[in-house]
Amino acid sequence: MAKSVNILINNTSYELEGQAAHATLLQFVRQQAGLTGTKEGCASGDCGACTVLVRETESASPTFRSINACITPLHAVTGKQIFTVEHLSDGDTLHPAQAAMVACHGSQCGYCTPGFVMSLAALHENAKGHDEPPLREAICEAISGNLCRCTGYRPIIEAGLKMPQFGEHALEVGNIELSNTASEAGHASYARPRSEHELQAAMRALPNAVLVAGGTDLWLEVTQRYTPFEQVIDLSEIPSLTCITENEDNLVLGAAVRYAQLETRFKSIPAIHALLSRIASRQIRNRGTIGGNIVNASPIADLPPLLLCLDAELELIDDEGQARRIALEDFYQGYKQTALAENEYLARIHIPKTQLDDTLHCFKISKRFEDDISSVMLAVRIASSTESDKADTVRVAVGGMAATPLRLPQVEAALKGTDIGNPDSLARAKEALQSLQPLDDVRASAAYRMAMAQALLEKAWRAGRATPLSIWSPETEGDRHHA
Ligand SMILES: Cc1cc2nc3c(=O)[nH]c(=O)nc-3n(C[C@H](O)[C@H](O)[C@H](O)COP(=O)(O)OP(=O)(O)OC[C@H]3O[C@@H](n4cnc5c(N)ncnc54)[C@H](O)[C@@H]3O)c2cc1C
Ligand code: FES
Ligand code: FES
Repeated sequence: MAKSVNILINNTSYELEGQAAHATLLQFVRQQAGLTGTKEGCASGDCGACTVLVRETESASPTFRSINACITPLHAVTGKQIFTVEHLSDGDTLHPAQAAMVACHGSQCGYCTPGFVMSLAALHENAKGHDEPPLREAICEAISGNLCRCTGYRPIIEAGLKMPQFGEHALEVGNIELSNTASEAGHASYARPRSEHELQAAMRALPNAVLVAGGTDLWLEVTQRYTPFEQVIDLSEIPSLTCITENEDNLVLGAAVRYAQLETRFKSIPAIHALLSRIASRQIRNRGTIGGNIVNASPIADLPPLLLCLDAELELIDDEGQARRIALEDFYQGYKQTALAENEYLARIHIPKTQLDDTLHCFKISKRFEDDISSVMLAVRIASSTESDKADTVRVAVGGMAATPLRLPQVEAALKGTDIGNPDSLARAKEALQSLQPLDDVRASAAYRMAMAQALLEKAWRAGRATPLSIWSPETEGDRHHA
């Protein structure tokens, strides 16, 4: 029998007795708590109809993270406070996000509306204390994981811009003590270890358990393929896996570090920050992790090409605590196959700090600007001494061009040691690219992918040491689906 565990939804505390290990937060919110304002649209993290907020209490002032309840494991949020759309208004006064949506005619059929309102509410609540009104860019970012198919985005964005005019009404967070027995002791079949030592013990005790970090890949198995996970081990409460540290040589990223944390850490490196802003949506970036992106081993995952360029190494640890290091380059062994042994987990990603000072260019081609998987991803790193125009070091890596993310030594060899921007070496590099066999599927044909990869390589090589080209710029704003 599962232990009784607690979750706070709005200001009501629930005990989660006997809930299956694979239960989703959305199922609980709608079916057990009876809060049907939160909708189910796609059940795969794409539409945002299920958006709820989770309250972060680590910092001095509470912040609110928008997440997709449909693919959030229920037991992953035990011990936390979740807000649903029912809680926004206090009965008399609408929350500014709601009032602005009404005033700007931001809703027609209304199915998407609770999700939009929650995303806007998170933006509004987190901006408290800032004097500046939200910029259009921040609003588009906040609603990047919300789809509307009848109203159109103009009035919704307008509502976001006008939110501050609708008063100071705030989310009432309450003052309820949450007895967090779940996260201490763990659900009988959903373990939430608090240290790597506990994690290794849980892996020995539950050898058939799946590991979950953010669940933004794995929980689609539950909602799309109806896979009933019997045993789960959650990595998201282990401090050594969720933190970013550095030593003399390396930046060290815990495998369960979320995209949202990476966005903060890499604010000062435009190429990386821009790439992060193109991964999925605000909601997914609030839960998805770097480790999940690597281990999932998708050929179109966005971080591996960047990490390959940075010569990243992975620290893998087994259930007895034995650690080994492997270059990311050697990790991928075939389509969705990796060097990770069954009794191992990915603990940390080590990036040599000096590589972060080199020129980086990252490009992502996808059909839609927001919340879309890459057709082609290309990352290039160029290092050269200040006095010379020669490329002393070149790294080129791609996604979508083979069964795994791939570093391209032959392309690099064609460019290395030549003058940056040199057209002859570029021609040789493009020719070397031709040996690849890109994916050919519904997202893009092989020929299109090849043409894109060659064009992006040229773009990076011509830009050379110039300020890294951003994959988002005001000129490309017209591509955004919210425009
Ligand atoms: C709507 C949507 C949009 C998306 N858009 C993008 C996108 O634009 N670009 C992109 O690259 N990806 C995208 N993704 C995929 C996904 O969000 C990312 O791959 C994410 O980084 C996965 O991280 P996670 O923590 O959620 O992984 P999880 O789902 O928790 O885990 C994924 C896999 O990795 C394993 N795993 C996780 N952590 C570890 C670890 N430390 N050790 C061993 N095994 C581990 C799990 O067992 C599982 O097999 C999208 C997903 C959705 C639903
Ligand atoms: S129901 Fe579509 S994102 Fe959750
Ligand atoms: S109002 Fe109908 S989908 Fe947005």
